[in-house]
Amino acid sequence: MNITVKSPANIAFIKYWGQKNTECTLPYHDSFSMNLSGCFVEIDCQFSTNLKKHELLIQGYKEDYPNVALPEQYQRLADYYHKIKKYFNQSTDVGFTMTSRISFPMKAGIASSAAFFSAVAMAFATYYGKSTHTKELSRIARLSGSGSATRSIPDGFVWWYAGNDHESSFAESIAPPDYWDIRDIVIITSRDHKQISSDKGHEQASTSPFFKKRVSYIKQKTIPQVKKAFSDKDFTRFGQLIEHEALYMHHIMMTQKTPLYYWNEKTISLLRHIAALRDNGIEAYATIDAGHNIHCICEAKNEEVIVSSLDQLAGIEDYIVNKPTFGTRSINLY
Ligand code: DP6
Repeated sequence: MNITVKSPANIAFIKYWGQKNTECTLPYHDSFSMNLSGCFVEIDCQFSTNLKKHELLIQGYKEDYPNVALPEQYQRLADYYHKIKKYFNQSTDVGFTMTSRISFPMKAGIASSAAFFSAVAMAFATYYGKSTHTKELSRIARLSGSGSATRSIPDGFVWWYAGNDHESSFAESIAPPDYWDIRDIVIITSRDHKQISSDKGHEQASTSPFFKKRVSYIKQKTIPQVKKAFSDKDFTRFGQLIEHEALYMHHIMMTQKTPLYYWNEKTISLLRHIAALRDNGIEAYATIDAGHNIHCICEAKNEEVIVSSLDQLAGIEDYIVNKPTFGTRSINLY
């Protein structure tokens, strides 16, 4: 059986950092994101009981994007396969060859694992003839260990309910892609891979003396405030809240037992550039996942002026303009 799946990366407006249960990848609090139209992965999967091996090939859409699978990515995929096999109560092994095409740099704070593992979740569930209903698929995606993969499954603007167990932790679309015409301009200052993976980082999140405070702040303040700004389409308030939230997460990262500094010098200068745009009346806000690359969030009407401001800056390798988009889709099955 051959299956082709396309899945987007997503940018978190309310970030997930830290796991209360590593086996099921359960977060401490809800998170909220938008799927990205220009950052996606497509995988072609060939499943066969005659195949003895599990193979993975990663190809970049652009020449300078990665085109080989790293050993740890292969291992993560193999671990996920074994988990899924158990989850679906399968006794016999199936071999597979996966060819994955990625439209953006991997392991650089643009949620490549989320895009990849959400696509893989759809491929496995389809192969085993299991439900590909969004809610269930979002649970299955989470079992890959990439928590953010759960949010790439539904369409548009997506809420991940933290829950208390496997059943109650799932993602759901709270608004379709055309709800709000906003952009995420991903500014790529380097294709370097991050040194420490997110899963290693999650392990130490609770060692930050500020972690407990963050969890209660998110539950009591950030969630109701972001929900209100989103439903009012109050972009100024929304932008302020999400930039603050990103900085709060990095504050936790930097104060973990082994501090995690995902930023580089260009990250700081871009944060300053975005603040300067605001000083000049152009509404732009920054958010940063576990990596050095910046996501600049703006309304559609400001996209052009922001992009041309980037053209004048030194040290920018590329940028990808993203609109809100659909979630994981099976695009071919034969
Ligand atoms: C910082 O465990 O989802 O992006 O394994 O790289 O997919 P990967 O990361 P994951 O943690 C990433 C968390 C975050 C914030 C977020 O997306 O909510």
